[in-house]
Amino acid sequence: MRTAVVAGLLVAGLVLAGPVSASADLAKSSGCLKCHDIEKKKMGPGFKDVAAAHKGKSDEAALVAKVTGGKDHPPIKASEADVKTLVKWVLAM
Ligand code: HEC
Repeated sequence: MRTAVVAGLLVAGLVLAGPVSASADLAKSSGCLKCHDIEKKKMGPGFKDVAAAHKGKSDEAALVAKVTGGKDHPPIKASEADVKTLVKWVLAM
């Protein structure tokens, strides 16, 4: 029940926040775009494919944990707060 409410709030937040153009700069300055492209696969999956794969699943927290965890994702330099912003941006594509 509680999880459902939190998930609902997250989805609402995503819809309200919408795509933030500043995040493209953040993705670049954080080094994400060395391995990711928006449209196509590079070393990592294209961000639009990531968005499609996680559509409607409330995976935001799990993705932030995965990307910052350094286990199932190559180590990155961005802060957790920046990764949160970036994951939101990716999922909104
Ligand atoms: C050194 C290369 C590299 C860099 C830098 C990198 N990534 Fe990735 N990323 C990958 C690879 C490879 C995968 C696929 C990993 C997998 O799912 O097994 C991936 C997957 C992902 C996924 C999808 C995970 C999933 O389970 O669907 C997201 C979201 C993501 N990266 C976000 C980011 C963000 C945000 C940054 C910048 C802070 C970033 N990545 C920087 C290589 C990179």
